[in-house]
Amino acid sequence: MMIPIESLRNALAPCLDAQGFIPGDQVQERYCTDWSGARGQPLAVLRPTNSAQVAEVMRACHGMRQPVVVQGGMTGLVGSCVPQAGEVVLSLERLNQIEEIDLISSTATVQAGVCLQTLQEAVEEKYLFFPVDIGSRGSCHIGGLIATNAGGNRVLRYGMTRQSVRGLEVVLADGTLINRMGKAIKDNAGFDTKQIFIGSEGTLGVITRAVLALEPLPCARQSALISLDGFGAVTDLLWHCKNRLGPRLSSFEVMWRDFFDFSVGKLKRGPPGLNLSGTHVVLVEAMGMDSAPDEALFLDALSGFSDQHPACEMVLARSMADAQAIWSIREAAGEAAQAVSPWAGFDVSLPIADMPVWVDGIHTQLRSLDLTQTQTYGHLGDGNLHLVVGVTTDPVLKAKVTELVHSTIGALGGSISGEHGIGFAKKPHLHLCRSAADIGIMKQLKHNFDPFGLLNPGRVLDLP
Ligand code: LAC
Ligand code: ZN
Repeated sequence: MMIPIESLRNALAPCLDAQGFIPGDQVQERYCTDWSGARGQPLAVLRPTNSAQVAEVMRACHGMRQPVVVQGGMTGLVGSCVPQAGEVVLSLERLNQIEEIDLISSTATVQAGVCLQTLQEAVEEKYLFFPVDIGSRGSCHIGGLIATNAGGNRVLRYGMTRQSVRGLEVVLADGTLINRMGKAIKDNAGFDTKQIFIGSEGTLGVITRAVLALEPLPCARQSALISLDGFGAVTDLLWHCKNRLGPRLSSFEVMWRDFFDFSVGKLKRGPPGLNLSGTHVVLVEAMGMDSAPDEALFLDALSGFSDQHPACEMVLARSMADAQAIWSIREAAGEAAQAVSPWAGFDVSLPIADMPVWVDGIHTQLRSLDLTQTQTYGHLGDGNLHLVVGVTTDPVLKAKVTELVHSTIGALGGSISGEHGIGFAKKPHLHLCRSAADIGIMKQLKHNFDPFGLLNPGRVLDLP
């Protein structure tokens, strides 16, 4: 039963300040939609300014059995943060303080609503580095990165967001606040409960603060675009770079021609006059601590590869501007998807060895459905590929494409989500890559943390 807005205001406004409660009819569009394009209208938006207020709001909502959807930077791609009928929005945008940067522990203590790019720039001023990096860095929030265990372009070297989380503060559905904000790397005192919340897409608790691990700021960065003929040459290059560059290898992004040509040809990204042949184009990035020797090692590694693969073509970044131009081709992903809207998007994981056959098979099957607008690219070094398919507005066709992609990935033992999560968009297909027993554990956890199903209800899982 929907709670009348005046009752909601009476119960929740006292937990918040004057800007903390926005009734549904005055809510701005940014609280209604995310990057998946789905849209919904909340009953109200709640904007606490600290963890204690989040706990109070959750306690009050729990008392009223009021469903809550948690929001951060709204850059998610699976619809998790889009309000559903009868939900209030809990926006963490005002928990936006970097509380401390601790040089000795190499940690940043932050509130959930800090924007990724703000954090990256603040720690760089102190010659430190927060390694998680994704295209939406200017909008996404730390809380959302942790709640989704975000991946991005440097997972190969630094791991997913989980690897950068030292400590966490979480508010449970009933308002209980759990503080695990330790800075120590090592902590084997019982179960590492904070890990359960990382990547749970806001279904088990509200992440309010975190202690993040920082790295030394790499002072040398090399980037190159390398075009290759055949997937075998791509995997040769991956192993060559791993062997020659060792831990310096920070990104290995591959683009099939359907994406590369769209980004360079249609969206005019990349350095002027760029003209590469080959079936695949790889973006390799290395980061190190020693400019001149690192540069020499990078050049030597690539020239060694080109001796073995004379057909490959290389474009080296000679300056920061060159590197930005090269990266802009890959970072056009969001714009490229919008340009073929309506689109169906995928972020599958699969064994690298299975990729060429899987990609060719999917492209062939899509063509047999008259779907020729595809964009294929991804984080090859992580075994994670993106596929965007321009579909018609026919929802049956979109469902057919989704079924096709996810079922073939499930059959290969891959994952239907390498990084974006399940949300609403992929929920019907979770069983294709997770066993009934595994999904059973997820349901038990959800039931335990949120027995009334009030927190991000219906995302990831359905409970009876
Ligand atoms: C990327 C996003 C879509 O890799 O995950 O560009
Ligand atoms: Zn990605």
